[in-house]
Amino acid sequence: MNDQTVPVITIDGPSGSGKGTIAQMLALDLEWNILDSGALYRTLAYFMLEEGIELVDFKKNEQFINKNFIVKFDPAAIGEPVKVIFNNIDVTNKVRTEEIAKETSHLAANRLIRDFIKPCQREFMLHPGLIADGRDMGTVIFTDAKLKIFLTASIEERAKRRQTQLKRQGSEVNMRLLLQELEKRDKKDMEREHSPLKPAEDAVTIDTTNLSPDEVIKEINKIHKY
Ligand code: C5P
Repeated sequence: MNDQTVPVITIDGPSGSGKGTIAQMLALDLEWNILDSGALYRTLAYFMLEEGIELVDFKKNEQFINKNFIVKFDPAAIGEPVKVIFNNIDVTNKVRTEEIAKETSHLAANRLIRDFIKPCQREFMLHPGLIADGRDMGTVIFTDAKLKIFLTASIEERAKRRQTQLKRQGSEVNMRLLLQELEKRDKKDMEREHSPLKPAEDAVTIDTTNLSPDEVIKEINKIHKY
């Protein structure tokens, strides 16, 4: 059973809206746990690819996947991506690629996958608190969260941020292609039947296009004292 007394802050939004950075800053500042739900989906996509398990065979392999899908997050340091530890191995750079992102978006639209991931996400609710970053943290997974933030930014700014992030990881990506991929992924995430990307009714929306990460934190602090 999850401990309902654990405070949760949800940070949702599309790729490049700044949710990863803001979630990391809050987790480090408050010394709370962090759930990077996008990375959880990415790790599942990576694991299934490695094992050669197709989506149609998910149910058949669910027990095996459940037993071996052990993911932990380390908030790392500001400026570095949140570390993804899969079965004690650091897979951060392996799962944060555009190829895995594409595969993930396809998987994440599937009901079976979302039902499988839901309890995995709830397990991250541990004291002293949880910062949950994703697309449906406030609308579906942690509906009773004490604070829900929805971040947005223009698509050009988001593509620029994503390019900088990929460059840091050592991959060069063409800006035009990146914009196209981002648009496609946004559309898929927003229009899917299960858990579409949208702000929760009780979420506070912040447009981060012209804001630095510190300015976004200041905005959040204005709304809420933890
Ligand atoms: O945030 P990130 O780019 O790592 O997420 C990868 C993909 O995982 C998204 O494009 C989305 O399709 C999926 N996702 C999701 N629900 C979440 C987090 C991510 O469907 N809560």
